Amino acid sequence: MGKTSLEQLKEYTTVVSDTGIINDIKKYTPRDATTNPSLILAATKDPAYATLIDVAVDYAKDKGSSAEEKANIALDRLLIEFGKEILKIVPGRVSTEVDARLSFDKEATIKKALHLIDLYKQEGIDKERILIKIASTWEGIQAAKELEEKYGIHCNLTLLFSFEQAVACAEAKVTLISPFVGRILDWYKASTGETYTAETDPGVKSVRAIYNYYKKYDYKTIVMGASFRNTGEIYALAGCDFLTIAPKLLEELYNSDQEVKPHLNVESAKASDVAKVSYINDEAAFRFALNEDAMATEKLSQGIRGFSKDAVTLLKDLEKRF
Ligand SMILES: *[C@@H]1O[C@H](CO)[C@@H](O)[C@H](O)[C@H]1NC(C)=O
Repeated sequence: MGKTSLEQLKEYTTVVSDTGIINDIKKYTPRDATTNPSLILAATKDPAYATLIDVAVDYAKDKGSSAEEKANIALDRLLIEFGKEILKIVPGRVSTEVDARLSFDKEATIKKALHLIDLYKQEGIDKERILIKIASTWEGIQAAKELEEKYGIHCNLTLLFSFEQAVACAEAKVTLISPFVGRILDWYKASTGETYTAETDPGVKSVRAIYNYYKKYDYKTIVMGASFRNTGEIYALAGCDFLTIAPKLLEELYNSDQEVKPHLNVESAKASDVAKVSYINDEAAFRFALNEDAMATEKLSQGIRGFSKDAVTLLKDLEKRF
């Protein structure tokens, strides 16, 4: 048997694992991985992670006054505990999410990011191994700009659904963006009732457009496609800088020997004819452009609500421990 599709894909694209489950990360050996309250919430149902929670609870025990404050302190520590475990396995970086409830507060986002980096530092982990994950709102993007510029902290801008968001992120010189493919497809399927192939998939098209724009205008921000519904979308984006893939789809690629051809490359991106746009210092223009895109507007809001809800559920669970 020849190479698996996963092995072939890794020749063109850096594969990242979209899971907080340590055993999956061990199996698929991605370069980077991620943690967030949603993944941790799922992982905490597994008794294997009980010790990580104990460490976080222990840490917060004599800090903060109310149970709620202690739970908040424990949550940050828990993110770091998971991050630490993941960094023992992956050679690259781990993404750690800023509480989604801060998505519209630039200063609070910066403060939280600095705190998370500090907690990692206390555990002997350098900021070079961390990506701070922030929602791609105007405030989030401006926070990321400052974190990158002033503190040399690398950011992963998430909940990215539109070209405008990608443009603003590139101008903010963030390290990495993770445009969502599957969630875009979900929206179009629900609103048009149509079916799509990999080639007509609006999520695939969106990431291709962003990739081409970035390469054409020499932006260094890494494009990392995320949230896939099927392997067809992944094959169609082979060649993208990074792709982050959930265990179920990693398994399919691992068990397949279908040929992988790179659909994205710098040369054809350079040849594409797309005009340059700018949102630097133009919050109003950014907000208007984003608002014009119903899909991106709804998906961004919904994504923030979802992440916030999981953070709150996790906090309520932790609160019971104090
Ligand atoms: C960046 O964040 C996305 C979620 O938006 C996540 O799936 C991905 O794994 C993260 N990337 C890296 C390199 O950690």
